[in-house]
Amino acid sequence: MTGEVRTVFRGGIVHCVDASTTQLLEDGVLGLDQSNRIVFVEDGSQLALLQDRYGFAADARTIQLKPHQFLMPGFIDTHIHASQYPNAGTGLDMPLLQWLETYTFPTEAMFANPEFAQNAYEKVVQRTLRSGTTACSYFTTIHREASTTLVETCERLGQRAYVGKVCMDRNSPSTYIEVTNESIRETEAFVQATLARNSELVTPIVTPRFVPTCSSQLMTGLGEVARRYNVPIQSHVSENAGEIEWVRQLHPQCSSYSDVYDVHGLLNSKAIMAHGVHLSEAEMQLLSARKVGVSHCPCSNYGILSGICRVRDLHQHNVKVGLGTDVSGGHSPAMLESLRLALIASKTVHFQEPALAPLRLYEGLHLATLGGAEVMGLQDQIGNFAPGKHFDALIVDPSSIDSPIDVFAKDKFSDRVEKFLFNGDDRNIVTVFVNGKVVKRLASAPALTAD
Ligand code: GUN
Ligand code: ZN
Repeated sequence: MTGEVRTVFRGGIVHCVDASTTQLLEDGVLGLDQSNRIVFVEDGSQLALLQDRYGFAADARTIQLKPHQFLMPGFIDTHIHASQYPNAGTGLDMPLLQWLETYTFPTEAMFANPEFAQNAYEKVVQRTLRSGTTACSYFTTIHREASTTLVETCERLGQRAYVGKVCMDRNSPSTYIEVTNESIRETEAFVQATLARNSELVTPIVTPRFVPTCSSQLMTGLGEVARRYNVPIQSHVSENAGEIEWVRQLHPQCSSYSDVYDVHGLLNSKAIMAHGVHLSEAEMQLLSARKVGVSHCPCSNYGILSGICRVRDLHQHNVKVGLGTDVSGGHSPAMLESLRLALIASKTVHFQEPALAPLRLYEGLHLATLGGAEVMGLQDQIGNFAPGKHFDALIVDPSSIDSPIDVFAKDKFSDRVEKFLFNGDDRNIVTVFVNGKVVKRLASAPALTAD
């Protein structure tokens, strides 16, 4: 239930109603109640009627967006390694398994140092917020103390997040590996402590890194922790050919990579599996049956030479799909970059398999917003402007100071939106709201107080 309207935004509005419907309102109005829940989103011509229907508080404020500006939902990054942010944009010259050994594990081991962790986590949360990402599903490292630092940082800077302490007890460097029972105990302690914060923004997520670095005992124990505390699970699946062959050798009794997770109790409606580049027909059916969400990470799939995920095929199998930056297999922490590469990747798939139609622009926007919310199981909370949801939103200004976009008199509202999605960047994101609170504001932003 929403309450009396306290805040009304007026200006352009764009959001995905569902996977195939996008609402574009050139002169829209959006109302929020006292807890910053969305009460309505309508055409501006309806304002007088809405005032009668919903009852506006006597001191309700109206925030008028400037010409060209529009509201859209915040981006949702369903797969990002906060601990790999120090490497973002470097080391993209080898495939997954070599890349992990050469660049990734050594950097993650540095998070044993609390100052290194604090600095890196502060930077990644600031950077993703600045890029318009209002919710993330983060991987940290094996270190519980540093993982708690990321929880605190998200709370302090105001980002919605799942935070997962990484677990790995085999096939890992001697300097960056855990003992099985300790990994389970530390995960349980992290989950308990994070839940005890009663945070509005941060939820713990159980995080077995991937099958090659997790023993059967570890995977089973982590599945039990996730069930005991009713928390989500995240990992990687069927990303790279060499990795898949290794999993086959490690678990010859299992019918597929996805089946390994299934027999260890890790596939359910709260599970997020990254990549799924090489999923077989049977695996897609299994993920669909278990209601698992897939995080499509195109920057990473190109960057570390994994291949191309067939998103249209996943949708046809009724598998939920969202987007992930997968920093630092993915070079960019900006979801706009992932959205663009998701569109390109779908065209590449289409060239190879003409029956799989390329994604349309607004399907890309859906992946980056509502699709991500579905993958994180937060579709009733965030992802679009449906009544009752939290206000996690961006004010975009295609004409902001230093804008990388030029707007012309002939441009329709939809043109301005498309130009932002294809050519815009964080300079166009002039205000970011999470839970109705301003977490970023640039000089071109509209005034937020009543005038
Ligand atoms: N598989 C296991 N660990 C990782 C990781 O850190 N990045 C990616 N892209 N894949 C993984
Ligand atoms: Zn990853």
